[in-house]
Amino acid sequence: MSDRSPREDVAEVLVSEQEIQEVLDDLAQRVTSDYADKNPLVVGVLTGAFVFLADLVRRLDFPLEVDFVAAASYGDGTVAGKLELTKDVNRDPNQRHVLLVDDILDTARTLSTLTELFVERGAASVRACCLLDKPSRRAVDFNADYVGLEIPDLFVVGYGLDYAYGYRNLPFIGVLRAESYRT
Ligand code: IMP
Ligand code: MG
Repeated sequence: MSDRSPREDVAEVLVSEQEIQEVLDDLAQRVTSDYADKNPLVVGVLTGAFVFLADLVRRLDFPLEVDFVAAASYGDGTVAGKLELTKDVNRDPNQRHVLLVDDILDTARTLSTLTELFVERGAASVRACCLLDKPSRRAVDFNADYVGLEIPDLFVVGYGLDYAYGYRNLPFIGVLRAESYRT
């Protein structure tokens, strides 16, 4: 077991802690103006969203409820896998204003499928909020209603985002050094 800092594997800081704070302030303002009177059900997508959601909801000074789903896509990796919920919400989304919160929007398969699911379950509205967006990677026609930052097509870690289950605890968003990827 190594006790090396995960920071040593980072080649470049893409979004600093300071920048993340500014993005959060802006997102929180937009979410507040749309949801302050709606008692939304804020649904985080585990595991990547846990840091972002925790920081976002502490900036929201109005009634809301927090819940989580966990989703795994399965399939052979080449064809679009089906999305399986490995953890469902505890609260009933029927008639609720649901705000889905995820770390990053990539192909958008996860959030588009979750949006359809909560619409089918009778949510009064369903919107999505992502800290990061990689628009060049879309596989389905879907965009989030609230996006913190658009980034280029790079694999990023930190602030909740992982590589091989690691690096989620980095307080900034970074790109790993090539030799840190397991082969
Ligand atoms: P998609 O939009 O359905 O393709 O899936 C997005 C999910 O893939 C995110 O919630 C992340 O868990 C994961 N993901 C996508 N891009 C990255 C990345 O650059 N770093 C870490 N995880 C990523
Ligand atoms: Mg995720």
